[in-house]
Amino acid sequence: MDDPIGCRERILSEPVGILGAGVAGLINAYVLLQDGFTNITVITRDRSVGGTWSRDRVYPGLRINNVHGEYRFSALKMAPPEDAAETGGHITGMGMCEYMETFYSNFLENKATFKFETEIRRLFRNQDGLWIVNVEDMRTGKSESLNFNRVILCTGGCSNPKFPDELSPDTAGKYQFPGIVIHSSQFRSRLNDILSKVGSRNLNETGTKEGTILVVGGGKSAMDICAKLANEGRRVVNIFESPDRFLASKSAIPDFIRKSRFLSILSPHIVLRSRLERFLHTTTIGSYITHFIWNKLAETSLDAYSIPKDSPFRSPFSLFWGIRSNDEGRVRAGSYYSLVNTGQIEVISPARALGFTDDGKSVRLSNGTNVLAQVIILATGWQSSWTGLFDEQTSTELGIGRHAPLSVLKGVDHIWNYKTLANPPAAHPDNIAQNWVTSVYRGIVPGKNILRRDFAIAGAMFSSNVGYMTEVCAHWTSSYFQGDPMRLPSSPEEAIKEGELSAAWMRRRYPNMLSWINESYSTTLDFWTWPQAADELLEDMHVRSLRSGGNWLTWPFHIIDLSELSTLGDERRAVRENRKL
Ligand SMILES: Cc1cc2nc3c(=O)[nH]c(=O)nc-3n(C[C@H](O)[C@H](O)[C@H](O)COP(=O)(O)OP(=O)(O)OC[C@H]3O[C@@H](n4cnc5c(N)ncnc54)[C@H](O)[C@@H]3O)c2cc1C
Ligand SMILES: *[C@@H]1O[C@H](CO)[C@@H](O)[C@H](O)[C@H]1NC(C)=O
Ligand SMILES: *[C@@H]1O[C@H](CO)[C@@H](O)[C@H](O)[C@H]1NC(C)=O
Ligand SMILES: *[C@@H]1O[C@H](CO)[C@@H](O)[C@H](O)[C@H]1NC(C)=O
Repeated sequence: MDDPIGCRERILSEPVGILGAGVAGLINAYVLLQDGFTNITVITRDRSVGGTWSRDRVYPGLRINNVHGEYRFSALKMAPPEDAAETGGHITGMGMCEYMETFYSNFLENKATFKFETEIRRLFRNQDGLWIVNVEDMRTGKSESLNFNRVILCTGGCSNPKFPDELSPDTAGKYQFPGIVIHSSQFRSRLNDILSKVGSRNLNETGTKEGTILVVGGGKSAMDICAKLANEGRRVVNIFESPDRFLASKSAIPDFIRKSRFLSILSPHIVLRSRLERFLHTTTIGSYITHFIWNKLAETSLDAYSIPKDSPFRSPFSLFWGIRSNDEGRVRAGSYYSLVNTGQIEVISPARALGFTDDGKSVRLSNGTNVLAQVIILATGWQSSWTGLFDEQTSTELGIGRHAPLSVLKGVDHIWNYKTLANPPAAHPDNIAQNWVTSVYRGIVPGKNILRRDFAIAGAMFSSNVGYMTEVCAHWTSSYFQGDPMRLPSSPEEAIKEGELSAAWMRRRYPNMLSWINESYSTTLDFWTWPQAADELLEDMHVRSLRSGGNWLTWPFHIIDLSELSTLGDERRAVRENRKL
């Protein structure tokens, strides 16, 4: 490193592999290109860009949790959805898809190499320290080995479907189940088959067959799918153990609440960064105010939809303790909860689907009933997209994935003797039994690998503003790769310790949540507190934090706008060049 300029030029010309072409892959490719990296390859198994929002996966009726202006990149404005007035600006799946495709054609196409329909089989570092990525062309079946000096893992938390064994298509085959069994990820491609298998209730006279569609799962995908099918007039039965929580209101939530730091400071962060946060989370009166607001939000949301007192949708815990929270926005007639209220979606909960009946025609439920169904849709979530990508040696060498703690972090919980964390929900048994941690520093770099500057993860932070977080994270990674001046741990031991402190914090903050998500989606859990987490990353890069501005009184209500990140590349350049002077 005696010759920093020469060194940086070499780094910029060396090949970088970006694994995945979803939101995380695209913004990382963009930031690296802007920074002058010249040899970038993006690999995806999909036929087009967008990952979760790619053209083959978004389906009609898919409406996301985020509202217009929240989930985008600073370099490209997003057009507001056509029905913004009616929905409070909730973005559609198709809107996300079009946005990602435009971002690609404006900034990335022909500037970076994109390999579509290419499955990543394995990656490892060879003896020369190069990353070898084994891929297979899904069209020809041809395998190939690609070499990169640096790699960014952007394979996503929602890209590898999880099938419960007892209801998988294989099991359905063994029982000769005569209907259709799919995972929610196949909903788009199989929608027409489903609609012709089970006829509309209203079309009964015309001779179309009636039948039942069983949707398994209580998350957002399950609800979207139920609503879509019920709106198509189909009989839908939805079964789940515990539902997501939700926010909803009669009129749209004003931006100074919705898009500001207001909700983020009402959630404790691993470090309480402001006097106001310390007041809210460490004093008795602050804690009372905090919980009062969360309980009120949960309650008014349930009341907005007139959810009955004995409904399974009334969780005993407030929104405060969960990350499975959706934003329904304004109350609408055709939405999931409205359709449940009018009986157009039948709900069985709490219950589990156990498997097929012996005749293979129905599904057995844990409450002793069977449901005769012609279509089963498994909205049963996702498994880690990292599984199988790393061999044992590579994953040990990197220190990636779930493992027993490497550092000695005993009794750290006293650091967070926050008043707001008193009386938590019971920890999930898996969380107690497994005691796993990930040692990923800042949710981006496996601690063990911190000094090598050749591997980063993007998109594995669970947050409610993926656009903002992935963009800040992409800048962090680019600076890290280039050896820019940054606040970084000085040794792997220190980085591992930080990573494990963060794992201990996740457990403390969301005791019954960790086991619900996967390693490729849980390097950090700053669901509400993403603005604080982003500020830490910005400070690591020695650029301005708290970018939404405001004075001592108004800062919690200032709107956070993605355009506040548009000068980040220039600011980082200034930091870099000052050092050279
Ligand atoms: C139905 C649904 C609704 C959602 N709603 C919201 C929402 O409202 N708000 C929100 O913030 N988030 C939502 N999410 C989460 C969403 O996944 C993230 O917001 C975001 O899109 C993740 O982007 P990503 O780039 O990290 O991963 P992904 O979009 O999953 O992209 C992963 C990429 O990696 C590729 N890939 C993975 N493994 C391999 C492999 N082995 N070989 C080749 N390629 C591979 C994929 O092809 C893809 O290109 C939703 C997810 C789903 C499924
Ligand atoms: C990228 O790097 C690879 C491997 O060094 C090399 O073969 C290829 O020609 C480079 N491509 C560009 C566009 O520089
Ligand atoms: C199981 O749930 C279904 C649907 O709510 C209900 O009709 C049935 O009576 C329940 N069975 C038992 C044994 O409780
Ligand atoms: C993914 O999450 C599910 C649900 O918690 C869990 O059962 C499964 O083991 C996880 N998979 C991996 C690979 O972590």
